Amino acid sequence: MSCAPEFRIMEDRAELAREAAELFVWLGKEAIRTGGRFCVALSGGSTPRALHAVLAGPDFSGQLDWRQVWFFFGDERGVPLDHPESNFAMAEETLFRPLKIAPGQIARMKAEMADLDEAACAYEATVRTCFGVHPPARPSFDLILLGLGEDGHTASLFPDTAALEERTRLVVPTQSPKGIKNRLTLTVSAINQAKTVVFLASGVGKAEAVSAVIEGRTRDSQEDRRFPARLIHPVNGRLIWLVDRAAAARLTVARQGIVSHEE
Ligand code: 6PG
Repeated sequence: MSCAPEFRIMEDRAELAREAAELFVWLGKEAIRTGGRFCVALSGGSTPRALHAVLAGPDFSGQLDWRQVWFFFGDERGVPLDHPESNFAMAEETLFRPLKIAPGQIARMKAEMADLDEAACAYEATVRTCFGVHPPARPSFDLILLGLGEDGHTASLFPDTAALEERTRLVVPTQSPKGIKNRLTLTVSAINQAKTVVFLASGVGKAEAVSAVIEGRTRDSQEDRRFPARLIHPVNGRLIWLVDRAAAARLTVARQGIVSHEE
């Protein structure tokens, strides 16, 4: 049974990054204590940069046994791994290199492959092998970090695309309506298996999308496909929204009133 989402509103991007780092470390310690490792799927885009910098910084880098952290990706753009638009390149620069993460602990989505469907199948096989989980079962990431696009997309799950309908595969190829077209993405059903999903949204540019996703949810799943982030509600896990005041600006006063970063 999916739990009600949790909302935490922070003053600004810096406080959001720190709150996210606290949560990341807490979840990581719990996962390592109970299961011996922490399997996390990183978000792409620019928002996670601040979180990565805090995790790799002096206050947090010593708080987790990074040798027990296994890194995956929620999505990737169809570019080489050293391309400035690559989600892997951003994580490599801001997290893996500073923390000296061993390459064997990182499962990169090879979205630069000519045959994207083959790349999706290969990544799914990697994930299944890492988790020791075979069809029809689905693996459960300890944490999946997600961003939110201004059109309500998350990972590379874009409005009204076939990827939103996928119920069997964990990873599919898809196309972005803007920017780098070719993408690989975890599917809605793969994401909804996670133990904890955390959305990070920062800045006034996200206010419309945050409000549309959080307060606009309808009972009409067709309508919800216009804002794919509405489809994310973990089956047996926690859904946590970490937003800053600017991104929360269009939420109803009631919603703003009932949440604060202390919760
Ligand atoms: C991607 C991301 C995507 C991102 C949102 C927000 O590869 O682009 O996975 O879903 O999280 O577009 O991006 P920003 O953090 O850059 O605003």
